[in-house]
Amino acid sequence: MQSFETLSKQFAEKFDTRHFPEQPASLYEPNEYFLKLGGKRVRPVLCLMGNELFDEIIPDAWHAATAIELFHNFTLIHDDIMDKAPLRRGQQTVHTKYNDSTALLAGDVMMVKAYEYLNKTSSKYLSKVLSLFNKTAIEVCEGQQMDMDYQSQNNVSMNDYLQMIELKTSVALAASLKIGGLLGGGGERNQNLLYEFGKKLGIAFQVQDDYLDAFGDKNKTGKQVGGDILANKKTFLLIHAMESPSCKKELEQLMNTNPDDKVQKVIALYKDCKADEWAIQLKNKYFDEALTHLDDIAVLSKRKEPLRELALFLVQRDF
Ligand code: IPE
Ligand code: IPE
Ligand code: MG
Ligand code: MG
Ligand code: MG
Repeated sequence: MQSFETLSKQFAEKFDTRHFPEQPASLYEPNEYFLKLGGKRVRPVLCLMGNELFDEIIPDAWHAATAIELFHNFTLIHDDIMDKAPLRRGQQTVHTKYNDSTALLAGDVMMVKAYEYLNKTSSKYLSKVLSLFNKTAIEVCEGQQMDMDYQSQNNVSMNDYLQMIELKTSVALAASLKIGGLLGGGGERNQNLLYEFGKKLGIAFQVQDDYLDAFGDKNKTGKQVGGDILANKKTFLLIHAMESPSCKKELEQLMNTNPDDKVQKVIALYKDCKADEWAIQLKNKYFDEALTHLDDIAVLSKRKEPLRELALFLVQRDF
């Protein structure tokens, strides 16, 4: 059983190569630019770990891991247009460096590239892998649309938020694990437990992402600080802060008037009503639930160690 560090290195050795043709350079150069910026490579490693939980990693798992990472990068390119994000991985986002049309097409072609890799899956597994991949891709679109809709809604509840992040983020982590588990020959019960583990872990992961958007260090996250605040994203921080009547009034005013110092002021209010401290409780709740599913998987506890470690890293990370 290999660690996150080892597997992400091995994945990088295979993945960090040119994925697109030379021409037209105006389409493919942006994709090569974006992929070179790296990223944590969490999802492909989850897929590889899902496989290795049950057996040695098979070639199909490398193809699936590659498809998953390409798909993830496609969603990020489009997400950055939707979120009007200037920075990603410490560099300009694709639509900022080039333009919106290029970023749309670069993302589209990256998604198709992901399917080319999936299509390399041996016929024994192809149909199952494709079904889960497609289901997940549809759910990500649904979650992303909810995320956009909520920007202009003022009555978003904690349950709405949790449902939205499950769709836009968690299911991708869950599916990465399950695809790996299926390719590793895990039984159906174990595969489903892996999926549930990923779903709960994915919620904790997005909670940390939302926390870092306000409280992270730009030099570490590589993203603009307070992007969610500027876009009136309905994160758990905002929803929790709005539960305090005194914060609610001020927050509503800031969201309606968008002053120049909106980000600093909203962050100060989050601290006043201890939304930042609440993040830890929320994260731990889902992290603990995730671990109960991992514990239930019927393989030797030692084999699960890399997944436990990766899960801990994902909720404690500062980038
Ligand atoms: C960012 O994902 C998008 C979310 C679902 C929060 P990551 O934090 O995995 O992004 P990279 O690939 O490491 O840059
Ligand atoms: C993005 O969530 C989820 C997907 C890309 C599907 P965010 O919008 O919070 O991700 P970041 O913060 O831009 O990475
Ligand atoms: Mg975003
Ligand atoms: Mg977004
Ligand atoms: Mg975010």
